Amino acid sequence: MPNQKKITIAIDGFSSCGKSTLAKAIAHDLGYIFIDSGAMYRAITLYCYKNKLVDENSIDEEKIIASLKDISIHFEFNSTTSKLEVTLNGENIEKEIRNLTISNLVSKVAAIKEVRQKLVSEQQKIGENGGIVMDGRDIGSVVFPNAELKFFVTADTEVRAHRRFLELNDASISLKEVAKNLKERDFLDSTRKESPLIQTDDAIVIDNSELTQEEQLLLALKYYKDCIHYLAQFPKK
Ligand code: DC
Repeated sequence: MPNQKKITIAIDGFSSCGKSTLAKAIAHDLGYIFIDSGAMYRAITLYCYKNKLVDENSIDEEKIIASLKDISIHFEFNSTTSKLEVTLNGENIEKEIRNLTISNLVSKVAAIKEVRQKLVSEQQKIGENGGIVMDGRDIGSVVFPNAELKFFVTADTEVRAHRRFLELNDASISLKEVAKNLKERDFLDSTRKESPLIQTDDAIVIDNSELTQEEQLLLALKYYKDCIHYLAQFPKK
């Protein structure tokens, strides 16, 4: 719709609950930018892993904090997939960051205050002009507390594990391992000291356990239209 005010849409929720799928689809429908904030945490984790600053048994927080100045994260447009893909110091790492090694380490790195400060400030810069859909764990609570529209997406743990398992499509990884990783990340993400995953009071909850992607999108777009209608009547100051 031309001349329509471009708002900020924050989508939070547990791991593999379909946040990114929803965020991508909304952004595509509205002509907004889609930013997967988890990819930024994964990118820093990949850097730390490659530089031996984190592994399964240890984490060197001091060195990670000192390294942050050497880490540059950007998004580049992939014209084949029409998606923004994450780069780490100029290298496209979109695929590498999705493997189970990084998935198993990312919550530890994402719990470091300085890591969060760096990424939150970059995320706020990317979204300063609105017209953005960003998904993550602290988008509605910390990154864009004034977002006009906030969703909190949930789904049953078993449904999430199964979806993630199919998405990974890796014969060397069992459904049990995927489920274990999800449960551990859920726990770490929602109990950490620094901006844990929370459902803000003003977020709309979407449980998509029994919804198709299309049904989920239609529901979210209905809320978007209501939001735009409301904003037209009661503009934000
Ligand atoms: O969305 P994801 O599963 O790709 O996110 C990877 C990890 O990054 C997740 O376990 C928690 C962390 N994360 C975070 O702490 N804050 C965000 N805004 C996004 C992700």
